[in-house]
Amino acid sequence: MSDRASDRIAGYHKDHHRSDPPWLSPGLKATRLRAPKQPLVSLTHTLSEVTGPVFTHNTVQDHEADLTTQHGGAPIGQRIILSGRVLDGYGKPIPNTLLEVWQANSAGRYTHKWDTYQAPADPNFSGVGRCLTDDQGRYSFVTIKPGPYPFGNHHNAWRPAHIHFSVFGRAFVTRLVTQMYFPGDPLLAQDPVFNSIPVSRARQRLICDFDLDATVADWANAYRFDIVLRGREATPMEG
Ligand SMILES: [Fe+2]
Repeated sequence: MSDRASDRIAGYHKDHHRSDPPWLSPGLKATRLRAPKQPLVSLTHTLSEVTGPVFTHNTVQDHEADLTTQHGGAPIGQRIILSGRVLDGYGKPIPNTLLEVWQANSAGRYTHKWDTYQAPADPNFSGVGRCLTDDQGRYSFVTIKPGPYPFGNHHNAWRPAHIHFSVFGRAFVTRLVTQMYFPGDPLLAQDPVFNSIPVSRARQRLICDFDLDATVADWANAYRFDIVLRGREATPMEG
């Protein structure tokens, strides 16, 4: 990447929405170390940061949206269809944007060497998928419902079942990351990640809806989760 001054241009700026979690949330241990202790320094973006990469259907294949067919057999767990739309603050769809998801398996374990939770790994489930939204901003994944898992925030802390989402946008610096939860999960009430979002209505926007119309008989349950990028109904995003 060139560092010439001529390559540096004014770029994107994300406002910190009041529904986003604060950098420092006293109940969430990890934020005590990573929250900035000094005023932020604003840097202009380089040309490459605001112009790429560009993803197309040549680089993102349709089968990458199905997390249940990446190996030799079906993963263990409840198969679900997870679909929704990516919208701007006016309800206008965002087409051709890259969505990436990652999640634990049905027992609550990630496919990662640092995950030491004593739950079974699933050789048929990597827990990673991606797709591009269509011209109406729609997306759809097939996956399995993840399980909850313990984490070291405090004694007997558990993460509710959740799926991580990344919305890439037009360039590296426009990437947004959030987590989606499931309705009726009793672990939401004690989760310091979910509860770091200060506005109750905003927290509810991170909980998907059961979508009976999208279920497939004898095959899959279905949930719906829309992502709104800005405005009063914005989906809370991690810093
Ligand atoms: Fe997670």
